[in-house]
Amino acid sequence: MEQDRNFVVTTSRRASSDIRAQARQKASDWKLPYFDRHDETLVDVTGTFEAVFVYDHDGLGLSIGESNLKFNLGTAALRLQAISRGEPVTLIRVGEIQANDRVLDATLGLGHDSIVAARAVGPKGSVVGIESSWPLFTLISEGLTQYDSGDESSDVQPVFDDSRSYLANADADSFDVVILDPMFSIPKRSDGSFEVLRKFASPAGLDPDWIQMARRVAKRWVVVKTDYEKDWFSSEGLERVPSGGSVNWFRAPVLSELSVGVE
Ligand SMILES: C[S@@+](CC[C@H](N)C(=O)[O-])C[C@H]1O[C@@H](n2cnc3c(N)ncnc32)[C@H](O)[C@@H]1O
Repeated sequence: MEQDRNFVVTTSRRASSDIRAQARQKASDWKLPYFDRHDETLVDVTGTFEAVFVYDHDGLGLSIGESNLKFNLGTAALRLQAISRGEPVTLIRVGEIQANDRVLDATLGLGHDSIVAARAVGPKGSVVGIESSWPLFTLISEGLTQYDSGDESSDVQPVFDDSRSYLANADADSFDVVILDPMFSIPKRSDGSFEVLRKFASPAGLDPDWIQMARRVAKRWVVVKTDYEKDWFSSEGLERVPSGGSVNWFRAPVLSELSVGVE
């Protein structure tokens, strides 16, 4: 999948020579210009570029002017702790995600749900996360490379693709659970990191086709997180699962279950 890449790679001002070498190498790998930064502000470096990839001692960031997005565990941190304590976690409960499962996260985003799913499926399971925004995919892939998920988790395999194409090409029943978490229709937070996410994330909302494609590929559930409910949800098999939190959770059974008994 091709996308215009009007980005530049640089480092923090006081970056070591190792970090500068790493940034220069990544710029070359990604076919982007490298800016050897010393006293310049990020606004100076940004110039006419859409955004700046910034390496420093704790990894890669994506900046637009003063706003910066870095890989972080975010909402996954508390959920991972809950799993360790044997407490219920909504994503796992709604998808009935089990050890050794194969999970497809069709909207990888910051990777938080994927990381939680990877812990639930354990080292013998697998989680594939699809992201259609190249800058977000690049940021999260780099972050996942640095992240040590531990012995009790599988790794998340990030894939740069449109998940609709990925689902269309995937075999029927090839994943146990498919997760769909498109962008919120109403911005939830307005801090700098969300500004970067919002600028680059694909804004497409849910539609019946996307749900159907996911249901063909899932063997157990299609799990949907949204901040809205459309009138077509129930005709597409989506049922609300009470969660008690601020997010709306829905799930749809797989298509093969519905077709039992129908010739
Ligand atoms: C709300 S975020 C997902 C957050 C994620 N569940 C997490 O826990 O970090 C939605 C993400 O899905 C991506 N996205 C939207 N439509 C997509 C598509 N058709 N294929 C792949 N990624 C898509 C957006 O670019 C965005 O990064």
